[in-house]
This record gives sequence, C-alpha cells and structure tokens, in this order.
Amino acid sequence: MSGDLKITSKGALGALVEGVDLTQVTPEQMGALEQAFAQHEVLFFENQSLAPEAHLAFAERWGEINVNRFFAHVEGHPAIAQVVKEPEQQGNIGGYWHTDHSYDQVPALGSMLLAREVPPTGGDTLFASCTRAFSTLSEGMQQMLLTLRAVHSSRHVFGAQAEYMDAMEGRLGNAEAATQDAVHPVVIRHPLSGRPSLYVNPGFTLRFDGWTDKESAPLLDFLYQHIGRAEHSIRYEWSEGALAFWDNRATWHWAVNDYQGSRREMHRVTIEGVELGAA
Ligand code: SIN
Repeated sequence: MSGDLKITSKGALGALVEGVDLTQVTPEQMGALEQAFAQHEVLFFENQSLAPEAHLAFAERWGEINVNRFFAHVEGHPAIAQVVKEPEQQGNIGGYWHTDHSYDQVPALGSMLLAREVPPTGGDTLFASCTRAFSTLSEGMQQMLLTLRAVHSSRHVFGAQAEYMDAMEGRLGNAEAATQDAVHPVVIRHPLSGRPSLYVNPGFTLRFDGWTDKESAPLLDFLYQHIGRAEHSIRYEWSEGALAFWDNRATWHWAVNDYQGSRREMHRVTIEGVELGAA
C-alpha cells in the first residue's frame, strides 16, 4: 500500500493501481503515482470511465499534451487520438512492437490509453520493458551498445508511400507531415528512474548512426528478439473503463489483432517528453 493506494506489480513491468478515482487525485496520491510510474513503467487503472475532459485533465497533471499529427481524433476533442477498429476492418493500429514518437528529436513521455469499447474476447495489449531487457544483456554487449546511436524516422510508417497507411483505411492521415528523422543514443538514461534503457524499436528505428541498413539489421534483430522475450513482457487484458499509462522511454507495446468481426475503441492522450541523454 502507498497512502490509500494499492499498487500491485504485474511481473516484468507494470502495476495495477487501486484505490484512486482519477477525477480526484490528491497531491499525496500524485506523489505516489509518480514514484510508481518511474518504478513500474506502465500503470493500469480499472473501472474509471473518465469523460474526455477528465481524461485530458489527468494527463495534463503529468505534462503538456502532445497532439499526434497522424491519428484521427475524437469528435470535439482534437487532443484525444482515436484508436479504433471496426468489425469489418482487418488491420489494427499499433499491431507490432513499437514505442511511440521515437522519430521525434524530443520524444513524447508516454500515453494514456482509455478503453471505451472492448471486444468480447481478445484485443489485449502486450508491453515489454526496455530497462529490464538491457539489464539482462552481458557486460560486453552492454558496453558496446553504450557507444552507439540510432536513426529513427516516421516516413516509412506514416508517409504517403507507406503500406501501413493503406492498411489503416483512413484511420490515419496527414501523410505529408511524416518528415521527422531523429538520432538518439541506443542506451538512454531514463529521465525519471535514471535506469539505462534500450531505445530502439522495430516500428521506427532504421539503422545505427554511421552504419548501413544492412550492417545494422543483424544486431537490431537480435535486440528486437531480446526485448520482446516473454521474461521481459506482460499481456494486459482490457475491460471497459480501464486506462493504461505507459512510459515510451522504458517500454514497447503491441496491440494484439485477434478479434476479427468485433469492434474495439480506445482513446489515447499523449504527453510531451524531454530530450533523451545517453546512459
Ligand atoms: C497504440 O499503439 O497506441 C495502440 C495500443 C492499443 O490499442 O492497445
């Protein structure tokens, strides 16, 4: 227990937080949530059913809102991205390991995803811990990775030529805004916990800085397999009114696309981050 909050670890990362109403978080509870967020990297809250205004108000307590350039937004709320899959659609948004916004030079801190409608079965989200994954590498590999930087981009995912944009059938847009390229350390010092965190992901990382794509692929593939291992990840089963708040600098996520014929609707609010430094 932390004050009147009950915080229960979910294993490799993540914790369920009980005993809080997100429309009325006290300063003492906020302090406990900040500590829990740095420690567990994803926080889950259930039975919240927040109105859009309350969702935004809770997000604003963590920082400025980042309005995503590519996602459709919830009607009347341009700062809330709509992550939806209709029964007749095949592809889902975020159905692969990634961390949001690594293509920005100042990547977003994280997102708060609120479940509005969940399928009868399936539609879970996987989360992986990039800090835990770094800690389970050998000393030799850790030292080598500490010397590297990597190039990230939005162009191949959200640009006009990207296959993903076609597969999303109008749920993403603004392809002409996919102009971001960024270089970050491969191992960052996490801005909140101070822990070293592997900062590459299959969604947006192109190559190591100064290496070719071909030279980079084997080591990136090794790191992707390693981070996504069962020992570094968890699976979260949603219920309506649940909210997950994840840290983009410490985690990956993957929306599992196993509910064909059913509807799933989530609302996502993203919070601005800080420039990332090397570990
Ligand atoms: C996302 O990648 O932001 C979506 C995650 C989800 O829908 O579970």
